[in-house]
Amino acid sequence: MGYGLLKGKRGIISGALDENSIAWKVAQRAKEEGAIFTLTNAPIAMRMGEINKLAEECNAEIIPADATSLEDIEKLFSRSTEVLGGKLDFVLHSIGMSPNVRKGKEYGDLNYDWYKQSIDISAMSFHKFMQVAEKQDAINEWGSIVALTYMAAQRTFSFYSDMADAKAMLESIARSYGYRYGKLKNVRVNTVSQSPTKTRAGGGIGGFDHFYEFAEKMAPLGNASADDCADYVVTLFSDLTRKVTMQNLFHDGGFSMTGISAEVLEMIKPE
Ligand SMILES: NC(=O)c1ccc[n+]([C@@H]2O[C@H](COP(=O)([O-])OP(=O)(O)OC[C@H]3O[C@@H](n4cnc5c(N)ncnc54)[C@H](O)[C@@H]3O)[C@@H](O)[C@H]2O)c1
Repeated sequence: MGYGLLKGKRGIISGALDENSIAWKVAQRAKEEGAIFTLTNAPIAMRMGEINKLAEECNAEIIPADATSLEDIEKLFSRSTEVLGGKLDFVLHSIGMSPNVRKGKEYGDLNYDWYKQSIDISAMSFHKFMQVAEKQDAINEWGSIVALTYMAAQRTFSFYSDMADAKAMLESIARSYGYRYGKLKNVRVNTVSQSPTKTRAGGGIGGFDHFYEFAEKMAPLGNASADDCADYVVTLFSDLTRKVTMQNLFHDGGFSMTGISAEVLEMIKPE
């Protein structure tokens, strides 16, 4: 059920790869709440063609953009304001990829070219989005920009390798740009730190299934799903959260504040 929270708002939603993607769910919810938006993803990701289904469902134009290419991002923002008929009110950055994680490289054996790619794709791209938006003056006053992150930015998770460093940088960019954009245009910038979620990016991490079950047993409310995440992101795009900025917001069923749960204690109890 929609509440009309995004009625009349325009935006860009990146990162919808298939129907499991967090961005896919955000697009469906944003549509339900009355928003109009463009969809974007890396040209290579579009070859799968899945995004066409979402575009049709949401009546959205797809604008291919590699998140590492400034030129692509410039086109993404200028074309989006053109087709949507005005400046934007929200932007979702839902982009992450580490070749080191993909190829099972441990933290003590990183390939440094791939490390640069992880940072470029997963963190620096967020800065590029905002710098381009600022230069084009593409976002309305009180607009909202959200990126998705993971708690490994603050606490070590052995399997997260160089993505932890990329996420720490992403969250820092949210604070630094949040300050700047707040002063300039009252635009807010936040990161949402999401539970482990069964998506292409999530599943690419070694031991993900076991960890998903562990997190489920730790969090008093259980893991937050991609649908739950979409609900939360929509509130951050809405006018109900206009004074929330520069925050890293945990959306994880309480996992991040739990030391140990009764269920996990039970699991490790000697026979
Ligand atoms: N799945 C999880 O457990 C989890 C938990 C916390 C945070 N996140 C974050 O949520 C975000 C979305 O991931 P997801 O879980 O929905 O997985 P996903 O695989 O569906 O989405 C990741 C997206 O990044 C896109 N991408 C990769 N390289 C790109 C590039 N060069 N240019 C443009 N786009 C590119 C992919 O095409 C894909 O659409 C990521 O930032 C991820 O780190 C995921």
